This record gives sequence, C-alpha cells and structure tokens, in this order.
Amino acid sequence: MNIAPAYAWQNGKLVPWEQCVVHARSQGAFWGANVFEGVRAYLGDDGALHAFRLDDHLARLRRSMKSLHMRIDHTDAELAHACSTVLAANAFDCDTHICVVAYFDEGPNFDPLAYTDSTGVHVTAIRAPRSPGFERGVAASISSWRRISDDSMPPRIKTGANYHNSRLAQHEAVRGGFGTTLLLNQRGTVSEAPGSCVVMVRDGELVTPPGTSGVLEGITVATVAKLAEQHLGLTLRRREIDRTELYIADEIFLCGTLAELLPVTSVDRLPVGTGKPGPLTRSLQAHYDDVVRGRTGHPEWRTAAPKEVAA
Ligand SMILES: Cc1ncc(COP(=O)(O)O)c(C=O)c1O
Repeated sequence: MNIAPAYAWQNGKLVPWEQCVVHARSQGAFWGANVFEGVRAYLGDDGALHAFRLDDHLARLRRSMKSLHMRIDHTDAELAHACSTVLAANAFDCDTHICVVAYFDEGPNFDPLAYTDSTGVHVTAIRAPRSPGFERGVAASISSWRRISDDSMPPRIKTGANYHNSRLAQHEAVRGGFGTTLLLNQRGTVSEAPGSCVVMVRDGELVTPPGTSGVLEGITVATVAKLAEQHLGLTLRRREIDRTELYIADEIFLCGTLAELLPVTSVDRLPVGTGKPGPLTRSLQAHYDDVVRGRTGHPEWRTAAPKEVAA
C-alpha cells in the first residue's frame, strides 16, 4: 500500500502532508545538508503503536547535529511529542516508519556552503509493513563501490548526503539481480549494507564490524547484542571482517530499523550456510519481534503513541 498519510509535522506544527515542504534552494534540499533518523513504530498485541528506541534515535540525531554545528529550535521532548502527534493524527493501524529530519535552510545570499543558523525540522510517518525478505532472506553482492570513510564523508553522521554512496551501491546491486549489497571500506574489509549493519555467524560466534569500519553506529545491532546476551548467552564480537569470511560464514543477517533482521542467503551467488536463513538468525528475529511488540522485557525501549492528538 502506498497511500500518503493525511498529516505531517513541520517546525512546531501539524500540517497537511502536501504542505510539509522545504524550499528548492535550501541547503537541505539542494545539497542533502540534513541529518535524520528513521524510527519504527510497531503495532503491539494491545492494538497500540509504540515507537521503538525513540530516545536512542533522538540522541543519535543530536550527535549528528553536533558534528555539523547544527542548532534547531526544538528539544528532544518536543521532537518525541511531534512523533507521537504524527502517529495519532494519521490514526495508523499498522507498523509505521517515522522520519525525523533536521535540515539547513537557505544560507546567506543563498550560498549553499555558507554556515547558516536557519534550520528546520520535519517529521513524517508512513505505513511500513515488514519486508518479505524477513522470511525469505535476500541475495547480496559485494559492491564495486567502496564505503565512504570518516576522513572524508563520515558514515557516523547520519546525513542525507551520505546516501549517495548507498544509492550507487544499491542500484548497481539491483541491476545485477541482487536484493542488496555489502560495501567494503577503504581498507578493503566489510563495512555495511546501504541502509543496515551486517552481522556474521562463524563457528557459533556473532561478529559485526566495529564502529571504526566505516559504519553507522546502529541501534538495531545494539539491540541484537543485548538480546543475544540475554536470551542466548552470546556476546556480539566487534572486529574487522574480511570479504572471504562472508563466503564461508555459517549465517549472515542485516540489522537496521527499517530492514529489521534480514537473513542474507547468498553472497556473490555463493550460498551462506545451507542457503536458507540459519537457526541463530531465526532465533534472534523471534526475540526481536517479541521485544518490539512488547511481549518480553525492555519497556524502556518502547514509547506509546496516544490514540488521539493532544489538545
Ligand atoms: C547506512 C546505515 N547503516 C546502518 C543502519 C542501521 O542503523 P539502525 O539500526 O540504527 O537503524 C542504517 C539505518 O538507518 C543505515 O542507514
């Protein structure tokens, strides 16, 4: 289903979806000079929507803003309220994906590079059913594109401009008949997928590249680390991963807010393990689904959205 919701939020106000706009000459629209977070809200078994790890997403948004010297007129509490307002106003009855975007507006004399204090924020949410890849898994390539790096275009800063790199890699993969792709960093070791982190299982050990491998510091992978420890007694190890380790891994899965936990069933057309989603992946997917829907533990990770917009 691809029907636009009725409302969005921009700069302190709920607005009709069509009126949530930024000017073509704003630095945010023209040069991708923005920072953002994607947050999932899950329909719980009680019928209510709960945003998952909203506080952690807003904290990462602040860290991205800090690196770009970006100031906005809203507190985290106001942004959290904006998210709830958008969910309530649209009366979603399914899982949704919320995007909180803070952007640089028009610069002095429309100079696209000049620093500006003129900023804005918008919050939108769309229906976001789970990807069919959650069950089936996805085929991945190793991208011919290298991941951007901290010394030129830091992946740690979640800015729209970084996704040019993701776009080149994803489109190449899809044209080649793959569902997704894994990028190597400038050192030639594994970094991440275009919009998610990667976890490998080798000999019963869970491994992911460290934050210094050219990755976004993922919230989903941190959730997986916690769940693996808590339910399976496994520690997620953070170390560099070689390309050929992906060819011989027992299991691989991607982790991201939108992707959730997505089994990778082949890499460069070589089957991962049996070529089917593996047992650890399946177990972690089940624990993840339980926690996001409020069946087990961690109430601190879930923010309930009101059913109606507060006056
Ligand atoms: C490039 C990239 N890496 C990793 C992730 C996973 O991060 P998270 O789990 O915090 O959504 C994302 C998702 O936003 C992403 O865009």
